[in-house]
Amino acid sequence: MAESMKGLHRSHRCTEVSEKNIGETVTVMGWAAKKRNLGSLIFVDLRDRSGILQIVFDENDCGAEAFAKAETIKSEYVIAVVGKIDKRGGAINENLATGTIEVRAESLRILSESLTPPFQILDEVNVRDEVRLKYRYLDLRRPHIQKNLMMRSKVTNLVRGFLAEEGFLEIETPMLTKSTPEGARDYLVPSRVHPGNFYALPQSPQLFKQLLMCSGYDRYMQIARCFRDEDLRADRQPEFTQIDMELSFVDVDDVIDVNERLLQRLWKDCLGVDIQVPFKRMTWQEAMDRFGSDKPDTRFGFELKDISDVVKDCEFSVFSGAIANGGSVRGININGQGDMARKKIDALVDFAKGYGAKGLAYIQLKSDGSIKSSFSKFMKEEEMNAIIEKMEATTGDLLLFAADRDKIVYSVLGALRCEMASQLGLLDKDQYNFLWITEFPLFEYSDEEDRYVAMHHPFTMPMDEDVQYVESNPGRCRAKAYDIVLNGTELGGGSVRIHQDDIQEMMFRALGFTDEEAYDKFGFLLDAFKYGVPPHAGLAFGLDRLIMHMTKEDSIRDVIAFPKVKDASCLLTDAPNVVDSKQLDELFIAITKEEDMKEEQ
Ligand code: AMO
Ligand code: AMP
Repeated sequence: MAESMKGLHRSHRCTEVSEKNIGETVTVMGWAAKKRNLGSLIFVDLRDRSGILQIVFDENDCGAEAFAKAETIKSEYVIAVVGKIDKRGGAINENLATGTIEVRAESLRILSESLTPPFQILDEVNVRDEVRLKYRYLDLRRPHIQKNLMMRSKVTNLVRGFLAEEGFLEIETPMLTKSTPEGARDYLVPSRVHPGNFYALPQSPQLFKQLLMCSGYDRYMQIARCFRDEDLRADRQPEFTQIDMELSFVDVDDVIDVNERLLQRLWKDCLGVDIQVPFKRMTWQEAMDRFGSDKPDTRFGFELKDISDVVKDCEFSVFSGAIANGGSVRGININGQGDMARKKIDALVDFAKGYGAKGLAYIQLKSDGSIKSSFSKFMKEEEMNAIIEKMEATTGDLLLFAADRDKIVYSVLGALRCEMASQLGLLDKDQYNFLWITEFPLFEYSDEEDRYVAMHHPFTMPMDEDVQYVESNPGRCRAKAYDIVLNGTELGGGSVRIHQDDIQEMMFRALGFTDEEAYDKFGFLLDAFKYGVPPHAGLAFGLDRLIMHMTKEDSIRDVIAFPKVKDASCLLTDAPNVVDSKQLDELFIAITKEEDMKEEQ
């Protein structure tokens, strides 16, 4: 029988009491995490979001009626206890903040009962993800997820406080809006009032924050929900949160400076860790050449080396052919792994193929001094020696090579070096390597669309010295764009925006937009720019990714209260789902592929 809490007021959370409160009467409420019935004594571990407090029921303190009630308590019952704080009679529990004390219950109310939960509410319980997410409200009771969400709340508070101190205004921008240019697919919302028309949920507040700069707000920030219909991964969700900001009358260094200090504050106040500013900066080209990635994990080496010069004329057609086709041959030296078993190397070849490689060539410099290689039969001895020298390899090293178009070579070796570091246990989660990647290409060539597309978005300013090439040679233009990277994750990114008509027009032409197309998509922004636009720049962090790193989780799912799974569905609510035909009729929507519907309406 669920009782009310009439007349009771919670006096403390479970771990807000300590030895200092011994002798005081307290009222505590929470969930029964564990019960041990010793006959004359009943112990209950009471849990709330702060932690665990031991309650002891002794008939001599609480009377027969409350004692009998305590006997009925089961896991996850919600109870209220009034009692006195006392030193523990039994063993001290050093794992608990309240491990030296207990509450000697004087009265008990059972506020609600619970079915037997499908899994125990413990951090260490090994539960399948699907079950955890179906019963997310129970999963969210687990202490470490609660800590994650508390950290998230603390971070958003600190961010708001810090940015307010720095003169930022928090301004909300619409959710029902027009497509924003971040490069993913939009989530669309049909309009009832305008049949056949759709809103797009924002991929980011990009255009609105630029409008706010036109309106003179000068420094804007928002903890903004964004929606992107793209393939999910451990660090991607269809809806996610950005710490979004935009600043007027600034250049790259101003944005970098305020954000370094923001991160420094967060790490200090939330983790007690001092991080040094300024962070290192690396150009995009250097990041690709050394790490094969625009978000390099610099906690370990295995850097890429270009051996194209050495092998361009060799007999091994895989190598010389790739170079002749405009590609390159690069390798990584996995120091000390020269004796790796064949089976493991084969697994690496398969791994590389997963990233588009046609194969993976290798040289093993075995510890007994012998050399084993998948391609030595095609090479002259001096060529092999030159490769080994270029790779700075010695006895005991394993060299892995990819030959292909640069894009594939980078992606294969970039992924391989991280995979090897992970296999070898080199990823220290207590080390925080922050890094700015700068001078991104302004455009990238889309094979799919057979044209140049904006690498960041079409409002990104070219570097001053590259403005002249925007139309004549888009491929060589670099942008005033920057990403902030932490241990191989892109935490955030931004850019200086174009505020001059002529550059913006060149940009659209280079992207193959006609004037009409540009106006159709972004006319309201282009018009706004005609009425006095300040130079402006901004950045957005992925809040979920930031919290994932701060809590040392491997997936952003563990720092989002109600995340979605890989196919973008929510196992808890069963969204997305079919809707009433009446609702569809009102929206003038007909489903054409009925066989795709999960069930008949
Ligand atoms: P960008 O597209 O780089 O820039 O996004 C900024 C940051 O948002 C995070 N992020 C995501 N997090 C979780 N799930 C996703 N699907 C996802 N997509 C992006 C990343 C990323 O670095 N308007 C620009 C910012 C600007 O120029 O000011 C923008 O949205 O951490
Ligand atoms: P093959 O002559 O095709 O048997 O290839 C010889 C070796 O080169 C094998 O170890 C292949 O895995 C490797 N290889 C094939 N294509 C590539 C490539 N594009 N880059 C690097 N190595 C490759």
